[in-house]
Amino acid sequence: MRIVSGIQPTGNLHLGNYLGAIRNWVRMQDALEEGDECLFFLADLHAISMPHDPAALHRATLEMVAALVACGIDPDRSVLFNQAQVPAHAELQWLLNGTARMGWLNRMTQFKDKSGKNREGASVALFTYPVLQAADVLLYQTTHVPVGEDQKQHLELARDVAQKFNNDFAAEGAPVFTLPEPITPPEAARIMSLRDGSAKMSKSDPSDMARINLTDDSDTIVKKVKKAKTDPEPLPAEAGGLVGRAEALNLVSIYAALSGETVDAVLARFGGQGFGVFKPALAELMVETIAPITARFRTLREDREALDAILAKGAARARERAVPTLDAAYAALGL
Ligand code: ADP
Ligand code: NA
Repeated sequence: MRIVSGIQPTGNLHLGNYLGAIRNWVRMQDALEEGDECLFFLADLHAISMPHDPAALHRATLEMVAALVACGIDPDRSVLFNQAQVPAHAELQWLLNGTARMGWLNRMTQFKDKSGKNREGASVALFTYPVLQAADVLLYQTTHVPVGEDQKQHLELARDVAQKFNNDFAAEGAPVFTLPEPITPPEAARIMSLRDGSAKMSKSDPSDMARINLTDDSDTIVKKVKKAKTDPEPLPAEAGGLVGRAEALNLVSIYAALSGETVDAVLARFGGQGFGVFKPALAELMVETIAPITARFRTLREDREALDAILAKGAARARERAVPTLDAAYAALGL
């Protein structure tokens, strides 16, 4: 089993990023059996498909690596790297551009969503990035790719590209690419803002009180939870009682995500209690879970040398795994 998964580098990481994305990677890595392998990459090449600030992208890439390692991604066990340092990604994309069909890309709903009304002004990269995604996974003979709903269509495209390439160019019948299977990632928590239970917790929220940052110290976390918006009602005994109480539901859901319990299990304990009891318990659990991450994250993000070393090593290991497939693809095409 070989799993490949990418994430866009983003700075100002918060509890939503951890519980909704990063923790799933850690779980996948920790669930691997002998002989299996995870490759995790920062999708910095994908980031240039949208308008971006080069300095911010570079900073975000380093920050994301620091966060991943702080959260438990082990750069010795997993292959952790950024695409830009493994030129085989861009090379294979070009080779696959010969196989991917315009009609296939025209059907991608993500391009329609992201380009919006300004189709003519969208970058070519935004149109072709599903082919880069195909290269990202096909390069490593990947067997399994965790995909959420919004990425299912792109994995289908990767399979179509692999199948057509194998069919058209298979060297002496030996297929160049493995067809990757989708796996459903463990259900990701969706964390909402602490100021408004109907908005996502996000780095772009202008209010810092609305989110728990991975750099927040314990006092700040306690203060933010204390100030989090709630309502005057006590907690209900089961989840159904939280309908129409978005802020309360969010806090209970965060508790459940942190403790690994269901919302009902949390309410079985706290039902009938007010927030005067629940909030300190939530803050304590939050501090317990994320204080060690925060400590590692703060140290590592300042250690430029360590981050560069992690990425250089990850890139070398990724290249090692990519080269045989890239060579086979060139050869199959007569190049
Ligand atoms: P932001 O919304 O802060 O800009 P990104 O869009 O950069 O965050 O998301 C990076 C990753 O973190 C994505 O996988 C995304 O699904 C996840 N994520 C971001 N915010 C949340 C949230 N509030 N709850 C759960 N997951 C989240
Ligand atoms: Na976002």
